[in-house]
Amino acid sequence: MPIDRNYLATVCPEGGRWQLTLNGEEAMMAWAGRFGRALIPPCVVYLQGTLGAGKTTLARGMLRGCGVQGAVKSPTYTLVEPYELPEMTFYHFDLYRLGDPEELEFMGIRDYFGPRNVCLVEWPDKGYPLLPAADICINLDLSDGGRSRQLTIALCSENKSEGSVPC
Ligand SMILES: Nc1ncnc2c1ncn2[C@@H]1O[C@H](COP(=O)(O)OP(=O)(O)O)[C@@H](O)[C@H]1O
Ligand SMILES: [Mg+2]
Repeated sequence: MPIDRNYLATVCPEGGRWQLTLNGEEAMMAWAGRFGRALIPPCVVYLQGTLGAGKTTLARGMLRGCGVQGAVKSPTYTLVEPYELPEMTFYHFDLYRLGDPEELEFMGIRDYFGPRNVCLVEWPDKGYPLLPAADICINLDLSDGGRSRQLTIALCSENKSEGSVPC
């Protein structure tokens, strides 16, 4: 299980629907920090939503919550940024500029998805079908005229053995 389920129930107020609305960047960072601390490697988290939906903010909050200090920059041009922690390594991907999923092979994509790693992936659909399947999908939608974000969280690990992708 890539996340502590009991913990998940406490951070997702609507229980089984795994849906919540976060008002403002500060609330997003705080929630993401708690969510990030509940992740158990190996874990693959897809962050899905349009440009400006808050995917990078969410990743930044998770990294900060897990103790990453210093800048957490968007990996738009580098495709991936590593963050080494004592207990695990985070890889933050942004595949928006990936021209062809085949490029993932040249990056040695499998090596990033090791047993002590947590991978946070923005624009995972660009990596289909070479990107490993998700354990957790978080979809972000703008709400309240853009002042808030609605998060929908799905645990996908159950389907993983069947090789299915995006939730
Ligand atoms: N929960 C939220 N409510 C309102 N605005 C938010 C929220 N989370 C993030 N934002 C804002 O959304 C903007 C885009 O965020 P970003 O994380 O760069 O999006 P993406 O990576 O999806 O393109 C930022 O200005 C950020 O402050
Ligand atoms: Mg981004």
